[in-house]
Amino acid sequence: MNQTGTQVQNIILIGFMGCGKSTIGRELKRVLGFALVDTDAEIEARADCKITEIFASLGEVEFRDLEAAVIADLLEKNPSSTVISTGGGAILREENREILRKLGYVVWLRASPETIYQRTKKNRERPILQTDNPRAVIAELLEKRTPLYRECAHLVIDVAGLNRAEIAAGILESAHYYFSQQQS
Ligand code: S3P
Repeated sequence: MNQTGTQVQNIILIGFMGCGKSTIGRELKRVLGFALVDTDAEIEARADCKITEIFASLGEVEFRDLEAAVIADLLEKNPSSTVISTGGGAILREENREILRKLGYVVWLRASPETIYQRTKKNRERPILQTDNPRAVIAELLEKRTPLYRECAHLVIDVAGLNRAEIAAGILESAHYYFSQQQS
C-alpha cells in the first residue's frame, strides 16, 4: 500500500551485474505496458555523465550517494505500474533495501559467478569489474551481497538456461499472485 492506501503494483529488479536486469526490465515493460525506470540511467541523467566517469572523477561513495538519492526520490514520486531496474549495488544500503520493498514486488535475478564473469567480461562500462582479476572481484562481492539480495527479495529467479520470455513469464505469474494476496 502507498500513503493514500491504494495498491501499488510495481516490479523491482535487483541482482548482480550481468544477470539481465535491464533486458528483463525492457521485456516486462513491453509485455505489461508498464513504465520503466532504470536507476543507473537516472543517475547518469542527473550527473550528466556516464557511470564510468562518475566513478573515475567522484569515486564510489559519491556514486552510492547519487544512487540512494535516486531511490529515495522514487518513493517520493510514488510510482505505479512501473518496472524499476536497479544497479547491482543498490541493495548495499539498508535504507535502499527498505525503500525497494516499499515500492513493490522485488525480484532477484541470480546467476553463478562463472555465468556472471562470462556475461560481463567484454563490457568496459562497469568500473568495479575493470581489474586484473574480475573473477575474484565477482566472487568476493557476491559473497558480501548475497545475504542482502536475499533479504530484499520477494522472489529469486536463477536466470541461467532461461530466455527472457521465460524469465518474464515467471516474474509475471508470481507478481500476479503476490499482488492478488495483497488486495485480499
Ligand atoms: C554496480 C552495478 C552497475 C552500476 C555500477 C555499480 C555494482 O549496474 O550501478 O557500475 O556495484 O554492482 P548494473 O548491475 O546494471 O551493471
